[in-house]
Amino acid sequence: MNVTFDYAGKVVVIIGGTSGINRGIAEAFARAGAKVAVASRTQEKVDDTVAALKKLGAADAMGFTADVREAAAINDGVASIHKAWGDFSVVISGAAGNFPALATGMSANGFRSVIEIDLLGTFHVMQAVYPYLQKPGAAIINISAPQAIIPMPAQSHVCAAKAGVDMITRTLALEWGGEGIRINSVIPGPIDGTEGMKRLAPTEAVRHAVVNSVPLKRMGTPQDIANACLFLVSDMASYITGAIVPVDGGWVQGGVAMVGAGLGEMMKKSSPRS
Ligand code: NAP
Ligand code: COA
Repeated sequence: MNVTFDYAGKVVVIIGGTSGINRGIAEAFARAGAKVAVASRTQEKVDDTVAALKKLGAADAMGFTADVREAAAINDGVASIHKAWGDFSVVISGAAGNFPALATGMSANGFRSVIEIDLLGTFHVMQAVYPYLQKPGAAIINISAPQAIIPMPAQSHVCAAKAGVDMITRTLALEWGGEGIRINSVIPGPIDGTEGMKRLAPTEAVRHAVVNSVPLKRMGTPQDIANACLFLVSDMASYITGAIVPVDGGWVQGGVAMVGAGLGEMMKKSSPRS
């Protein structure tokens, strides 16, 4: 069954939308007819993404550069989008940083930088977009991660930051629900070919272990995540808010922990059919 979404004329703002998963989401909204604006730190990435979005049908796609750690830059950027297009129907907040480092091998500044990008950055984005959200009717998605609900070695900074992101989602669902604003988190599983996976699964052996630990036995694609976003901000999801939605082939049901403990391999060896 083919399902298509029509976002013609809707204003969609995607913070951190210039590569990987978030760019996949931006492209999906462009294909669905939306007016798409993207933002990140790097001018070339913004320009490249805007050009690609235009080719996909978002003729008036726009972008701006800003670091989510700097509230004023984000405020100015979203104000410029609002000035051009008016109220926002959809906001996706997905800027993030990650590197693997054990707690004992990470400086306080390393921990701080991820907290500031993922957690404080999300807060900055929420505060910046709030005045410009369509009320009622706007829908927000914060891009979270499995680390928000499953502890993972060498990820204390990301676990803490993304757990906080999900609590921002749940709290703002309470604070803003009365104004007709919905907000949900999407938790991508391991997504093939992305910067995140290059950093966390840098060798073929780890990649193989990750795939094996996913109940659906494959990594995800940016399109998998985009499909969930297209649904969650649509009228079909009009009673869903404050939800933390894994889109992960079942990974958070135990897969992440299985990779850490090597349990996936052990189970395979002890299986009567292998
Ligand atoms: P990515 O390609 O590195 O995308 C990150 C995006 O955020 C880029 O557009 C980047 O552009 C921007 N960004 C980074 N730091 C920023 C900052 N300080 N201010 C503004 N923009 C910033 O990463 P990805 O792997 O696709 O991950 C995307 C999202 O999915 C993240 O939220 C991540 O936590 C989540 N996630 C990923 C996976 C995975 O398998 N990859 C799994 C679970 C969750 P600039 O460099 O130009 O700033
Ligand atoms: N191991 C341990 N510490 C590390 C590290 C690593 N692999 N990489 C960076 N750090 C530390 C640095 O040493 C520094 O701490 P220090 O000042 O005490 O030395 C701190 O993190 C900040 O590093 P810096 O390079 O100045 O940060 P930045 O603000 O320029 O970049 C990062 C932020 C580190 C998160 C960078 O990797 C980034 O921009 N990532 C965005 C893309 C990404 O991660 N995508 C995947 C998303 S899932």
